[in-house]
Amino acid sequence: MIDPVARAAAAFRTVHGEAPARIAHAPGRVNLIGEHTDYNDGFVLPCAIDRGTAVAIGPAADGMISVTSADYDETDVFDPAAPFQPAPGWRSHVRAVAAVFRARGLPLAGARLGIAGDVPQGAGLSSSASLGVALAAALDGEQRFDATELALIAQAAENDFVGVACGNMDQLIAAHGQAGAALLIDCRTLAIKAVALPEDMAVLIIHSGITRGLVESAYNARRAACEAVAARLGVKALRDADLPALAAAAGLDAVACRRARHVISENARTLAMAAAVAASDWPQIGTLMAASHASMRDDFEITLPEIDALVARLAAATGGIGGARMTGGGFGGCVVALARGDRVPALHAAALAHFASVGRVPGLIHSCRPAAGLQITPG
Ligand code: GLA
Repeated sequence: MIDPVARAAAAFRTVHGEAPARIAHAPGRVNLIGEHTDYNDGFVLPCAIDRGTAVAIGPAADGMISVTSADYDETDVFDPAAPFQPAPGWRSHVRAVAAVFRARGLPLAGARLGIAGDVPQGAGLSSSASLGVALAAALDGEQRFDATELALIAQAAENDFVGVACGNMDQLIAAHGQAGAALLIDCRTLAIKAVALPEDMAVLIIHSGITRGLVESAYNARRAACEAVAARLGVKALRDADLPALAAAAGLDAVACRRARHVISENARTLAMAAAVAASDWPQIGTLMAASHASMRDDFEITLPEIDALVARLAAATGGIGGARMTGGGFGGCVVALARGDRVPALHAAALAHFASVGRVPGLIHSCRPAAGLQITPG
């Protein structure tokens, strides 16, 4: 498959008969641990993957933004000075990023865009965030914003215009990813610490085959539940709560308690995981991933039985040298396994055995090393 940067540039050239001025590329991500902690001001440990979205851009004299999607062979044209109007599919994501510039009093000049990506959609690998960050960087022609600010623009596009109440993890890792490392992100202070993965560590991403839709899912309900418990505990966010305070809180219903317990315990696991990965402590990595998955299954209730079964098979196949868990928002999408490189064939076989047993055609089974984040190249 030709890479997205080359395809975005080619799409631009085909439509406009000249090279783009520049091309921004941002990757998708896989989260190793720290799920539903970002919007609770907590900790996450994602890494950027070797798939992403590229946006080729050049000026337009007519003041309009004209976009070509190479993947869909579709186009869109809108006026960046006019109020946001939703449009089908990928178009709303593009219009939303432009709308954030407008909302912040930063008028956008007319532009022509060519977009191409290879992050599977609906897989929980943050195709939207990779598009959003690449778009924000492409549209920021004067390079006024640093990587964190571009990530926050992309997040605001999702929150304020697309209508997804996501946290900041996906955009921050798309903007800041580092080759060979996961990033421990403090989602409150936005402090980022690179955690180099051991040389012999494989990151295996397996798509369950169950497609998830963030907007339709119970994501917003989970977020609201977390915020309600934080308010009841009198803290700014669940980041500031601990398990004894939760146990002592009067009048919280059992479901709310379980939701909060997931977030509080997941924050602790994420910090422990960063240390375990840095120390190549395979048994501890396996233990933490298993506990994270169990917490998502039993307390946060965002897994599905078929995904639990896939995780169990993969965890067993690590032979104690690694672990597995669902990754991303939940209700479908991907599972991530971390294992020593020599275990990859066993994990691959376990995934195939799973798909045979549930009667699904195997989808993405992808072994990757963490990739770099946002990159801007001349056209
Ligand atoms: C989605 C959201 C993120 C994060 C994860 C769950 O990917 O976009 O902000 O909340 O779910 O960890």
